Amino acid sequence: MKTVCIEDPSDIVIASRALQRGELVVLPTETVYGLGGNIWSPSAIESIFRVKKRPQDNPLIIHIADIEQVKQLALEIPKQFYLLAQRFFPGPLTIVLKKHPQVSSVVSGGLNTVAIRMPSHPYALKLIQEAKVPIAAPSANHSGKPSPTSIEDVLEDLGGEVPYVIDGGRCEIGIESTVLSLVGKKPLLLRPGIILKEALEQVLGEKIAISHSKKALCPGMKYKHYSPRAAILVFSSLGKLQAYASSSPCKKIVLSEKPFSSNFPWIELSTKNLYFAYREADRLGYPEILIWLDKKGKSNMGLYNRILCSQSAFF
Ligand code: TXA
Ligand code: MG
Repeated sequence: MKTVCIEDPSDIVIASRALQRGELVVLPTETVYGLGGNIWSPSAIESIFRVKKRPQDNPLIIHIADIEQVKQLALEIPKQFYLLAQRFFPGPLTIVLKKHPQVSSVVSGGLNTVAIRMPSHPYALKLIQEAKVPIAAPSANHSGKPSPTSIEDVLEDLGGEVPYVIDGGRCEIGIESTVLSLVGKKPLLLRPGIILKEALEQVLGEKIAISHSKKALCPGMKYKHYSPRAAILVFSSLGKLQAYASSSPCKKIVLSEKPFSSNFPWIELSTKNLYFAYREADRLGYPEILIWLDKKGKSNMGLYNRILCSQSAFF
C-alpha cells in the first residue's frame, strides 16, 4: 500500500473522507501520534488491531472533537466528567466512563467501559470535526515500541501499512495522556501523564486513588511498553553516570536535565524528548541510553513512570 503524507492542513478533508469510508489515518496529537479509525466501522477497528499488532484485550481510546459526542459513547456520565472536561479538554487527559451499548466491545477490549479524550492538536481536531464521527486511536506504533512523536517515527513503523498520515510536526508533550477512571466509587488514576493527579484533585475537590493493581486496570500497562532496542540505564547521580560512561566501551546517548559534557551525544531530558531519544538511539544503532534522573525528574510523574517502564537497570 502507498502511504500518502498530508502536510497541508487544507488537505485534511481528504483524510477525513477516508475515515468515513473505514480506512485508517495516522493523526498528530499534542501527546503522541495516533492510528485512527472510524468508531462505527467494524472493519476499521479490526484493521487498527491488525496493523498495530495489538492484543485484543487492550482497549482503544476514543477521540472526540465536541463534548456532545460523549453521549453517543458513554452512559451515566457523572458531573465530574464535565468539570474535568471544562478545564482540561481539549488536552492530554483521557477519562474512562461506563460504555454505551452501541460502542463495540472490540473497541473496549471486552470491558464495559470506554476511554474518551479530546486532543488539542489543531490538525487532530480538524480531522475529527470533518469526519463527523468519533475516532478510535491507539498510539501509532507497533505494539511494544515507543510511541511515535514525529512523522519519521510513524513511517518507520507504519509506512506502507496505512493509506494516509498527517504530518503535524514534533509532538509538544511527547508522552501519552493521563488516564483517569470515573466508573468506581472514587476517581482512580490509571496512567500518569503531564496533567498531574494534584491538578485533577483540585478541579474535582476530592482525592484520587492511584491504581497499583497487578491485574492492570488500564490493560495496556501490563504489556512491555515504550522500549527501544537500546538498553536504558538509569542513574541517580551524575557521579555514577560518569563512572559508568567512562568504563563502558559502547556507543551511547546521554539524557539529563543539565548539559552533560563528554564525547557522547547529549539530549535534554524532557517528556518531549524521551521517546525521540529512544528512537534516535535505535536509528543510530547505539546500544545504550544513559539517563541521569535527579529529584526534579522524579517529581515529573508521567516522565518518571515511562522511564521506569522502559529501564533495563537502575544504578
Ligand atoms: O495520548 C494518548 O493517550 C495517545 C494519543 C494517540 O491519544 N493514545 C494512546 O493510546 O496512548 P494507547 O492505546 O497507546 O494507550 C491507551 C491506554 C492503554 O493502556 C489502554 O489499556 C487504556 O488506555 N485504556 C483504553 N481504554 C480503557 C478502558 N476502558 N479502561 C481502562 N483503560 C483503558
Ligand atoms: Mg500505546
